Amino acid sequence: MKVVSIVGARPQLVKLAPIAAAFAERDCRHVIVHTGQHYDVDLSDVFFSGLGIPAPDVHLGIGSGSHGVQTGRTLAALDPVLDAERPDWVLVYGDTNSTLAGTLSAVKQHLPVAHLEAGLRSFNRRMPEEHNRVLTDHAADLLLAPTEEAMRHLAAEGLAARSTLVGDVMVDICLRIRDAVERGDHPRPELPEGIDPQAPYLVSTLHRAENTDDPARLTALVDALADLPVPVALLAHPRLLAKSEEYGLKLNRGALHVGRPLPYAGMVAAVLGSVGVVTDSGGLQKEAYLLGRPCTTLRTESEWIETLGDDWNRLVPDPHTLADWVATATRPAPEAPRGTPYGDGRAAHRVIETLLAHQA
Ligand code: UD1
Repeated sequence: MKVVSIVGARPQLVKLAPIAAAFAERDCRHVIVHTGQHYDVDLSDVFFSGLGIPAPDVHLGIGSGSHGVQTGRTLAALDPVLDAERPDWVLVYGDTNSTLAGTLSAVKQHLPVAHLEAGLRSFNRRMPEEHNRVLTDHAADLLLAPTEEAMRHLAAEGLAARSTLVGDVMVDICLRIRDAVERGDHPRPELPEGIDPQAPYLVSTLHRAENTDDPARLTALVDALADLPVPVALLAHPRLLAKSEEYGLKLNRGALHVGRPLPYAGMVAAVLGSVGVVTDSGGLQKEAYLLGRPCTTLRTESEWIETLGDDWNRLVPDPHTLADWVATATRPAPEAPRGTPYGDGRAAHRVIETLLAHQA
């Protein structure tokens, strides 16, 4: 079996790591195509080196642009690559513009497409990720769902016959790296200046278009973080830096200590060393849950609703209007045990079994 994986943005590289490792154990040809949607070293290269992912076979170097430009350029660049490879499966990941472009290029060439992390929904049609997920699920031939909830969404959209529950590959990688960090196999994370790793601190990230692209909203979110009584390690995505500079918004103030995005193991270590997480990232909400730290999510909804049970994760769309914002963001970890809604850490192997079983 020959499979082409199409990736381009940071969260896809995290999901690629366990998949590439599982392919390496099998008699399969795995071709990695990097679209170049993310090009900063901190968002791309360190994930390949840090997670032991083989270098991409093809790099398209697409870079930034409006949604249409970025998706269109990727689509055009992928056509000849997929035509030359003619794989048994094109595997697309998550919900980025690279995911949608990969899916369109493949279906137009009658190449079977499998969507990893299928069936997630925010039901917020203003999110670019929601368009990408819905369109990808409806175009793909095989839907690899991470959770029962995702399976229910797919069934509700008439896609049950194409769907398989495989579990979440992010559990595979998160727990493996957690164990390595706890064994001391990784250097200490480079936390922002001013964060004492021995004292309580929060980990924060902010990058979603809904939060960064409106100056008033971004200002309110940054003010709320700066007002917290606990130091906040703000690991800044380039989009957050670009937008705050554009709006003349100072990030390094009050409780906030700004640093670069961390490599994956560094992020796991930073979360393990923290008293909690405040974020708008999907992946980080789940990592906080898997690592047992309370999470506060600066959004109106979450695709990972399982984290919301027992107060492990709380949605706070507007911190400045929330009377107990400080108490919420600094609340201790709940005592309730966490279940295993995201699977047993062997999802990547199940993905490969499912691809083999459904091969044309
Ligand atoms: C993308 C995904 C989002 C995912 C996120 C993870 C889409 C629609 N969104 O958002 O779902 O959660 O990746 O990080 O695909 N930039 C750089 N260097 C880079 C990459 C981006 O400076 O390496 C800056 C550019 O100013 C660019 C902006 O960030 O215009 C947005 O980048 P883009 O890849 O379009 O989306 P993300 O916000 O990273």
